[in-house]
Amino acid sequence: MIDLFDDIERQERDEIIALRKELEEANYRYYVLSQPTLSDRDFDVKMRRLQDLEAAHPEMADPNSPTQHVGSDLNTKSGKIEKFEQVTHRYPMLSLANTYSEQEIQDWLTKLPQDAEIVCELKYDGLSISLWYEEGHLTKAVTRGDGQKGDNVLPNILTIPNIPHTVQGAPQHFELRGEVLLPWANFERLNAEREAEEEPLFANPRNAASGTLKLLDAEEVARRGLTCYLYYMLGENLPKQTHYDRLIVAREWGFPISDAVRVCHSLQEVMDYIHYWDTERKNLPVATDGIVLKVNNLAQQQQLGFTAKTPRWAIAYKFPAEKQHTRLHAITYQVGRTGVVTPVANLAPVQLSGTMVQRATLHNEDFVRSLNIHEGDEVWVEKGGEIIPKISGVFAASKTQTEAYHFIECCPECGAKLVRVEGEAAWRCPNEAGCPPQQKGKLEHFVARKAMNIDGLGAETIDLLYEKQLVHNIADLYDLKIEDIAGLEGFGQKSAQNILDGLENSKHVPWERVLFALGIRMVGETTAKKIARRFASIDDLQWATKEQLMSIEDVGEQIADNIINYFAQMPNLELLTRLKAAGLIMEASGDTMETQSTLLSGQSIVISGVFVHHSREEYKEIIERNGGKNVGSVSKKTSFILAGDNMGPEKRKKAESLGVSILSEDEFLNMIK
Ligand code: IVH
Repeated sequence: MIDLFDDIERQERDEIIALRKELEEANYRYYVLSQPTLSDRDFDVKMRRLQDLEAAHPEMADPNSPTQHVGSDLNTKSGKIEKFEQVTHRYPMLSLANTYSEQEIQDWLTKLPQDAEIVCELKYDGLSISLWYEEGHLTKAVTRGDGQKGDNVLPNILTIPNIPHTVQGAPQHFELRGEVLLPWANFERLNAEREAEEEPLFANPRNAASGTLKLLDAEEVARRGLTCYLYYMLGENLPKQTHYDRLIVAREWGFPISDAVRVCHSLQEVMDYIHYWDTERKNLPVATDGIVLKVNNLAQQQQLGFTAKTPRWAIAYKFPAEKQHTRLHAITYQVGRTGVVTPVANLAPVQLSGTMVQRATLHNEDFVRSLNIHEGDEVWVEKGGEIIPKISGVFAASKTQTEAYHFIECCPECGAKLVRVEGEAAWRCPNEAGCPPQQKGKLEHFVARKAMNIDGLGAETIDLLYEKQLVHNIADLYDLKIEDIAGLEGFGQKSAQNILDGLENSKHVPWERVLFALGIRMVGETTAKKIARRFASIDDLQWATKEQLMSIEDVGEQIADNIINYFAQMPNLELLTRLKAAGLIMEASGDTMETQSTLLSGQSIVISGVFVHHSREEYKEIIERNGGKNVGSVSKKTSFILAGDNMGPEKRKKAESLGVSILSEDEFLNMIK
């Protein structure tokens, strides 16, 4: 008897090992070669079998099992990844010694063997990546991580068009390291889209590339348009004995190797290279921040070796931030959409990194004081890795202006007396309801996608309506008539009607989003939701005490004060009366209140498809309020799928193969009734 058990145990363990291998191979054939050998169904059945076996054999748990990593999440083919697999680098990913000084470059060169050739390359300013090729196939793409371990972001890397998925004539195992970059043009397009969607902007292409590589959505990564340059080959039994020759071989294998790589033989040649690229790099489609110098001969590289962190056979020269001095004509003040007043430097126009600079932010009062800046000074303006120019100091102080700097006292837009909240660096205009940029800001916020989501009304149209004095506040929007809009520049009957329809539809937006849309200071989307769950209507909220408000999760003293202050202002109460009269939802529809049941407690539910009775967001809420959890992808832990129309066929297949039940919208609503 005991023998028989042992036998089964052993068989099951063998089966685990075999299944892991088979599924790994299938993933690879599917994703890398785009030549699947297993049908989706067979894949899912085997994956499920492996999951079951692993559950029965916890002693065989392995983070590298296909049940645990990206490939298995990707088998839904939806492009969504749950998390990246962590991989230990075969060779640690080191960084380079940096210098800004030409003298140090010279010093470094003198320490090298007399006959050393130097390969000069551009230092690309993106994210380093290590591409692993096994038997001609790209099998892993690992980020630097902490230098020892990184994330395998292969699904995202596979979207980069200039990275070969297969190579011919290359060694069995090798690694190519390089830089993943978001070209300037794609960076600008991405930021423009983000601005329109009111999402935070990326400060530079490096941050954008980094944010993009971390995405768990390969489709979105593909859309953003990353690119790559490779600059370092690693492995055993590699061809050629110099770094340069290896790069040329890699180029012949089809890899993107920069055309800017040069072999130099003297300090003069190196300096010429540096000076040439310091200007010429501005014409490149991607960001660079310096030059990398490497000893060409690999035997010499080996002799020189490494320090703990960096190779001795390479050094990076970083371009200095471009810097100019110019006269600060005047400090003016800009009022933002939230009332924050920002001092702005108005400069004598000056050329910097190919653009003319005339204005630069001075951030706030403390910044101006700390640099001791006065109107009339000659100031330093520089552009570093960020694209926005900044003032970095005084080059020559004005002879006439010596008094300490004082911030203005009144709002330059509406004349209200400014206030500075304790603990904040900013001065603000408190006239929320009457100050033009703030009025526009409130209107823009109100119509935004996450708030009332009004079709046809974006920031530009709001500006136009405001300038034409057709709207001053959010309630005015609901008084708009077709003839008000139809005659405006760029509008006809159809587009005007579209806006009116959008406004009409917004009358179905639930209470919590209306509350968010009102734009009460610091009441963001999530906080609004939590408040709306506690207070069933605007009337209840209006009379809430500070203590009641502060008992809500996420609501601290400041937010509570802001809410109380909002209702203490007559113009706001008038607005609310008009919005109510216009038909906006100002109270919870029975089912949006706090937790209603524990009917779904402990259940993981996937939502898929298009719904009739509620939006996806609303279903998510309903699930949460009944104790359930909404999850993204189907696994054997999924309790059931709430399916609308057009549920993804892959999800359906997967659910079927895992035996996860699929509930229609009506079945679900009945169940939680
Ligand atoms: S060589 C062991 N070459 O700069 C040396 N790095 O500060 C490996 N970089 O981690 C790096 N362009 O992300 C090398 N042509 C180039 C480079 C380059 C950009 C990045 C890379 C590296 C960092 C070091």
